[in-house]
Amino acid sequence: MNIGVLGTGSIADSNLAPALQRVEGAQLWSVLSRDRGRARRFARRHGAASLEPAHDSLETLLADPGLDAVVIATPDHLHAGQAIAAARAGKHVLVEKPMATTVAEGRAMVEACESAGVRLAVGYHLRWHAGHRRMLALIRSRGIGELRHARAQWTFKAEDARNWRAWPETASWWSLSAVGTHCLDLIRWVMVPQCGEVVSLACTVGREVWNGPHDETAVLSLRFESGATAECCASVLFAAPSRAEIYGSDGYVRCEDTLSRFGAGSIATQNGILQFDVTDPYAGAIRDFVTAVETGGAPEVDGREGLRNLELLTEAIALA
Ligand SMILES: NC(=O)c1ccc[n+]([C@@H]2O[C@H](COP(=O)([O-])OP(=O)(O)OC[C@H]3O[C@@H](n4cnc5c(N)ncnc54)[C@H](OP(=O)(O)O)[C@@H]3O)[C@@H](O)[C@H]2O)c1
Repeated sequence: MNIGVLGTGSIADSNLAPALQRVEGAQLWSVLSRDRGRARRFARRHGAASLEPAHDSLETLLADPGLDAVVIATPDHLHAGQAIAAARAGKHVLVEKPMATTVAEGRAMVEACESAGVRLAVGYHLRWHAGHRRMLALIRSRGIGELRHARAQWTFKAEDARNWRAWPETASWWSLSAVGTHCLDLIRWVMVPQCGEVVSLACTVGREVWNGPHDETAVLSLRFESGATAECCASVLFAAPSRAEIYGSDGYVRCEDTLSRFGAGSIATQNGILQFDVTDPYAGAIRDFVTAVETGGAPEVDGREGLRNLELLTEAIALA
């Protein structure tokens, strides 16, 4: 499968393009940048396979009949337009999180991909962390009993407010877009199948350090149909080891530093350490996307699940 990467920034360069090389049956084909020279250097650095891999126009990149799919790794406000254009050109779409900046955009993406008959996947790579998958297997086999409560925290320290996530022209949230949406996805992945949908939500936001329009710290609390509860904390104000904790009627799982780009960290349960291999979670997400395209099945995080995450972020911030 020939895959084009849109955007040459942090996640595309450090994680997505290297991960593509680890997925059998897929290869980096072409690249979109606002600067053709940058696209050319990116293509060379990551071994893009097309004879003409470097593009500074989405239209020309999508007009390539050799291209099968795109991975969208641009600022959030560009995702919807790029995904809809890709779908109309018959290309499958793996879009980075959050899938868009508004619910209306998210819905339009789902509709465009469904009516074009192309797969739409959303890049929540933490579901492909090998330790998280072992944790999930334990929880699904009732290894900690009935789920009662979950907590996820991922934070980092931004040096200033220049990042595009801090501004409404390019994003709808800052801490929630960067890391909070991952915490929410992890919690939904673990809780929803056993506890039902989220039925109530509350949110507190701090934005007093740079006094900008977006959340610097966001704290979400959730209640599921079963009555189980959860908390997410995201922040751009302080760096700390990430944490996820899942509590059941008969035990717990505690993840330390597993919410990251690296597939590493440690996981403990009431019975001791949970062993796992460190693998590339981005390769897992891409492999799942490729399999969905090949089999016509649904990817692990499809457009509708990405949309549910977007709805909750939107609702949360409206309440803050
Ligand atoms: N799953 C994860 O772990 C993870 C981690 C980080 C980010 N992400 C997601 O991936 C996407 C990209 O994030 P990132 O951290 O990689 O961002 P980034 O470093 O700022 O890169 C974004 C790239 O998009 C291109 N771009 C096009 N229009 C732009 C504009 N108006 N302003 C800035 N860049 C523009 C740029 O490439 P050119 O200069 O070549 O045009 C830029 O390098 C976001 O949706 C983000 O939420 C996911």
